[in-house]
Amino acid sequence: MTEHKPEFEINEKLDANLMDHEYDGIRELDNSLPPWWLYLFYGTILFALVYVVLFFFMGKFSQEDELQAQITRAEQELAEYRAANPISIDENSVTLVSDATSLADGKATYDKLCFPCHLANGGGSVGPNFTDDYWLHGNTINDLYRIIRYGVPAKGMISWESQLSPEQMRNVASFILTEFKGKNVAGGKAPQGDLYAEGGMAAADTTAPEGEVPQQ
Ligand code: HEC
Repeated sequence: MTEHKPEFEINEKLDANLMDHEYDGIRELDNSLPPWWLYLFYGTILFALVYVVLFFFMGKFSQEDELQAQITRAEQELAEYRAANPISIDENSVTLVSDATSLADGKATYDKLCFPCHLANGGGSVGPNFTDDYWLHGNTINDLYRIIRYGVPAKGMISWESQLSPEQMRNVASFILTEFKGKNVAGGKAPQGDLYAEGGMAAADTTAPEGEVPQQ
């Protein structure tokens, strides 16, 4: 039996931790782990302990909190954007909107604030009928916006400027013109004002009721 000559001699001085088993010439050293590795390992244990306490017992780092923080940040950014880019709607620049979202917003405003006097179907009670072709103050989007904004306080139609944003006033005016104008609902209030042809042209625009709203 020939003596097996290992290619790598075991350095007895350096490798004092040689274990006493051997398989097919493979021998194992029981060296201690390098300190950097050990401290990293202890570090992860410490981290896990702290994390478990914070996460499970103190309710920190939850997904809801992170979501909420992101929503708050998005809202802030939106508010900043709106402040930097104000929507300039007034009775001169307002345009009729027809998208479903704006009209739904207009309907929501109408159903909340306007229906007591103008009725849910626009037929009118205290306030005039929106579904006939007669208008006290005109039937263009600009006319409606002006009346909604400034009101006709002397006649019982208040100014909504302080309660509604420019967009809301535009949306509710668009809603009235889209949903009610020309519908002539049954049982509607008797016509008030002047007959307006389609397109907003007054047949005889002679009314100047008291409490007329300021023109801008
Ligand atoms: C307290 C009752 C009342 C409420 C609430 C009310 N209105 Fe009026 N509204 C009136 C009266 C009264 C007039 C008629 C004013 C006049 O005689 O000049 C009027 C007139 C109007 C006109 C002009 C109609 C025309 O013939 O030219 C518009 C448009 C209008 N209202 C929209 C609204 C909107 C939009 C709301 C809800 C945000 C609203 N009103 C809420 C009482 C009301």
